[in-house]
Amino acid sequence: MEKIVVENSGKLNGRVRVSGAKNSTLPIIAASLLGTEDIILEEVPRLKDVEIICEVLRALGATVEDIDEHTIRINSSNLKTYETKFDLMNKMRASFLVMGPLLGRIGKAKCALPGGCTIGARPIDLHLKGFSALGVEYTEHYGDLESGEDSYILAHTEKLVGDKVYLDFPSVGATENIMMAAVLAKGRTIIENAAMEPEIVDLSNFLRKLGANIKGAGTNTIIIDGVEKLHGARHQIIPDRIEAGTFMVAAAITGGDVVVENVISDHLRPVISKLEEAGCEITEEEDNIHVKGPEELKCINIKTLPYPGFPTDMQAQFMAMMTQCDKTNIVMETVFENRFMHADEFNKMGADIKIKDRSAMVTGVSKLQGTDVRATDLRCGAALILAGLVAEGETHIHDIYHIERGYEDVIKKFSGLGAKIKRVEE
Ligand code: EPZ
Repeated sequence: MEKIVVENSGKLNGRVRVSGAKNSTLPIIAASLLGTEDIILEEVPRLKDVEIICEVLRALGATVEDIDEHTIRINSSNLKTYETKFDLMNKMRASFLVMGPLLGRIGKAKCALPGGCTIGARPIDLHLKGFSALGVEYTEHYGDLESGEDSYILAHTEKLVGDKVYLDFPSVGATENIMMAAVLAKGRTIIENAAMEPEIVDLSNFLRKLGANIKGAGTNTIIIDGVEKLHGARHQIIPDRIEAGTFMVAAAITGGDVVVENVISDHLRPVISKLEEAGCEITEEEDNIHVKGPEELKCINIKTLPYPGFPTDMQAQFMAMMTQCDKTNIVMETVFENRFMHADEFNKMGADIKIKDRSAMVTGVSKLQGTDVRATDLRCGAALILAGLVAEGETHIHDIYHIERGYEDVIKKFSGLGAKIKRVEE
């Protein structure tokens, strides 16, 4: 096992280039099951989660090959089964995104039921509501934990027929899964109260290149008119807005001067606005964002919301920064029911954070002390690196596999900005 050790690093300075978006890459690789000719994907980040979903596709009969460091070729013309490999699916809940494409392409799917995780129960009722609306019948089988029997969902349909479906919550995954099932359905599907994240738009743009007929991605109503068949395409994954935001906060919390490269500023409006409120000087250049952190961080409040609101995936990173903001900062987490696990870790370092229901009160300025902490999820891990940059002494971050699921070359990128960070054996 390895851990990451971060020392107080002073002001970060320099330039860092953001990789392709993990949360765009995963649904787009899943959607490649719908194509019947070669698909070339560029700017694919080298992440554990991406490796897993590529393995899921290979097990279904698709070929997935590396062309170079960040380019892969996928061909799904000869799928050999509709049953996914549970040991692979159980490693990453986003593998459930293959269900929609399998139903669209084959009309059948047997997938492991995705478990919850530390940030919440992560139900799939809205995915299933959408599949049912398209004429899918399914049964859920709950395995017996003792015997290690798998829990899975078995779904099938004679023919997918388009219909209207309202999402009680603008779920990103449900919007993606239903969209992917609908592109080969008969007739029109309308997804109401759809998620509007940039990753939804990227998936829609990819599917349209394959020949799908989709309108409205990026708004809360998406209209899909089914087509007979989808062909191949070449597509470049959009930059990862959450990775970009993480490095922007690194500049803010250390009072540094960082240029984040390969960024679409429009995907980061709430993050830019909140960092300016905290006293940062932000300049949007061509494909870059230049962030200068202030000597003293000002107090701010954030409330996470579905896009275009403040992203829940930036909440932990901002909480780390808030420990250095004066007075009392309030965080409201409205997207997940249990996404404050990182507060306990920050408090171990000397922060003053009190949780009540879905709100956290962060009283700064806390002089953080390096100590042993644990990455409870991907964004918590990233936030602990940020806290470690300003804490006294060494911060030892354990369970770092979470971090490497979502941040390509995390050590190299932070070191390039002057961070004192290294990976060592436990
Ligand atoms: C995606 O997860 C992202 N993951 C998450 O990023 C991100 O935090 C989340 O969207 C919200 O933006 C990927 O794209 C791979 P949701 P997803 O369905 O699709 C409830 C990261 O750090 N819900 O929008 O699972 C659910 O319980 C990860 O990169 C239902 O009730 O998120 C949650 O409270 C973490 N029923 C809320 O919706 C459903 O059927 C948002 O979930 C589905 C979801």
